[in-house]
Amino acid sequence: MKKIIKAGMLGIGNIGKGTYQALEMNHSKIEETTGLDIEIVKILNRDPDRDRGIDIPKSKYTTDVLEILEDPEIDIVIELIGGIEPATAYMAKALQNGKSVVTANKAAIAANGKYLAQLAQDNHVLLRFEAAVAGGIPILTSLTTALLSNKFSSVHGILNGTTNYILTQMGDHGKDYAEVLVDAQQKGFAEADPTADVEGIDAANKLSILLSLVFGVDAGPDMIPTYGITTVGKEDIAFARSSGYKIKLLASAHEADGKVSANVEPAMVPERHPLASVDNEFNAVFVTGNAVDNLMFYGRGAGPLPTGSAVLGDVIGVARKIAKDSAYDNVPQLRYDSDLEYIGEGENKYYVRMTVPERPGILGQITTIFGKRGISIETVEQKTSSIQDGIQTVPLIFIFLEVKKSALLEALDEIQILKDRVVFSVDNIMRVVQ
Ligand SMILES: NC(=O)c1ccc[n+]([C@@H]2O[C@H](COP(=O)([O-])OP(=O)(O)OC[C@H]3O[C@@H](n4cnc5c(N)ncnc54)[C@H](OP(=O)(O)O)[C@@H]3O)[C@@H](O)[C@H]2O)c1
Repeated sequence: MKKIIKAGMLGIGNIGKGTYQALEMNHSKIEETTGLDIEIVKILNRDPDRDRGIDIPKSKYTTDVLEILEDPEIDIVIELIGGIEPATAYMAKALQNGKSVVTANKAAIAANGKYLAQLAQDNHVLLRFEAAVAGGIPILTSLTTALLSNKFSSVHGILNGTTNYILTQMGDHGKDYAEVLVDAQQKGFAEADPTADVEGIDAANKLSILLSLVFGVDAGPDMIPTYGITTVGKEDIAFARSSGYKIKLLASAHEADGKVSANVEPAMVPERHPLASVDNEFNAVFVTGNAVDNLMFYGRGAGPLPTGSAVLGDVIGVARKIAKDSAYDNVPQLRYDSDLEYIGEGENKYYVRMTVPERPGILGQITTIFGKRGISIETVEQKTSSIQDGIQTVPLIFIFLEVKKSALLEALDEIQILKDRVVFSVDNIMRVVQ
């Protein structure tokens, strides 16, 4: 049995440092429990003279990625540079060279997971990416091991810490989105360019991976209807609170009658639902299986040490297989073999807040268009009026019964182009979870 397992790491940013640090911290415990001495022997660092705030012998650094990808001593390549390229090309090269790969890169796995998983199989090595979905939460390993006996009917995730932090702060302090975003950036919970997070792209990447693991469905992030949180306002938070809901950016997939629907969008979650209690930077994944029933995984979806913990879990799993010479026994985690049909968006209950001029007959004109399109309104509520652009306006809040969001958007488009300006603005649309 091979006792020393050597790994090379690409990138020494937040997660690179967290992974290295977690291994240093717990090396002897890992060795005691597994009998393996796992070492990170080389690290790709494109600027080795820069102070990275971590004590790593300079001799471990290389600026040449081939020194890792072509080193016959290295069994495992840990990819932590992020982005689709060159990360995919580096992982592909490592797999072709007979090295197993562990990555935290959701963008690359969502875009190229199928290709990389095939390469891993062809080369009898392993590809693992637990940290790519919900950081420190071991959801992928659980789905593909302990929960394998289940057929799942749904998965709902709060998969992005940045947006959950922003929505929680807006809810707790009644602040505006823009104000909370600046605070989140100052505290390191949001990137300087927050687009991928606040527009739901990051969550869609993760949901795309979950769709493969949970349902065996091949749906790239571009096939998942995705809406972000930038239109959520104080008024929505206040309505949600007063109606017993919390607003969350939900990544959801649902199976019914052989059809799988999925979307990423802001949603009003009832306060009694376990996902409503997931606040700030925390993540959670709520799955429903036909044997296990409801199950919620909760924890830190980001951060150097929690994510490093997930990366190392994969490294240890792979190292164990290598030590037993059983890495060839590779069951890919990604699968695209189910008979289920992927249909994109499903039907849900929706909340719409719009501002209309305060004059008689407006509500009738609006409801006529919804009625004509077969869209059923559950309730409509009128809020306090105010003056906007010299016009007396009033906010209206509609709750619609099950409808496709695209159908709702088409109806709202028709209403917005009615003559005499029937609608001043459509301010926000959110799913309502029941
Ligand atoms: N941050 C989290 O909490 C979190 C959670 C889960 C998963 N992830 C995933 O983990 C991965 C790493 O994220 P991170 O937060 O650690 O990012 P990061 O702090 O930006 O670190 C990226 C590292 O990769 C290096 N790098 C980037 N492109 C490179 C290239 N072409 N060649 C060589 N080195 C390159 C960077 O070098 P320089 O420092 O020289 O720029 C930096 O050291 C990403 O895939 C991310 O999605 C992150």
